[in-house]
Amino acid sequence: MSGKLVIFNHPLMTHKLAIIRNEVTNTKDFRETVSEIANLMAYEATRNLPVKEVEIKTPIAVSKTTMIDGDIVIVPILRAGLGMVEGIQRLIPQAKVGYVGLARNEETLEPELYYAKFPTNISEATVFVVDPMLATGGSCAKAIEILKEKGAKNIIYMGIVGVDEGINKVRGEHPDVDIFLAAKDEKLNEKGYIVPGLGDCGDRLFGTK
Ligand code: PRP
Ligand code: URA
Repeated sequence: MSGKLVIFNHPLMTHKLAIIRNEVTNTKDFRETVSEIANLMAYEATRNLPVKEVEIKTPIAVSKTTMIDGDIVIVPILRAGLGMVEGIQRLIPQAKVGYVGLARNEETLEPELYYAKFPTNISEATVFVVDPMLATGGSCAKAIEILKEKGAKNIIYMGIVGVDEGINKVRGEHPDVDIFLAAKDEKLNEKGYIVPGLGDCGDRLFGTK
């Protein structure tokens, strides 16, 4: 079965996107707004999490209800994915965090792996791969491939801005993975940057340029 593609068209999301797209937004506001966007997205992206039945006692009566079942792992693609972690953790504080370090080679645009560390239970967990930018899709597709090699079976990708090229790459290589994006932009420029996009997300998050 094909994974779903969800693009958020919501006033809160476009408002917050306008803040991070704006080149005059400073590092603090950029970082905080990326986190808020991830928080809003996580509400929808977690809609189908597995649940278990529980019985609790309210001050009035015994009640049967459900609570989240099973492990959840957030895997940011370094560096920019780190900006989304805290916003998701605010909703799912029990989530574990793994890391994939991938950097795009500036000439070939191919992702190069420099770090990977995951919790041990990854094969049974629901895994959220997070990276704000889905450009060529190389980094996201590679991260998912690495996770699958480690046994992960239930993988969801959450990004902020993507283009068709990246969406098609991830869907082509990993048709089982659901894709959640805050916005879909027009195209890539000759340097592989998203247009209009928001620039280099890692640099804007961490003030490195
Ligand atoms: C950026 C971004 C994504 C990747 C997207 O990372 O954060 O990981 O590029 O591009 P792609 O879809 O073409 O692979 P970058 O390699 O610049 O590293 P950084 O996050 O450390 O800045
Ligand atoms: N990575 C970024 O940070 N921005 C882009 O537009 C494309 C890749």
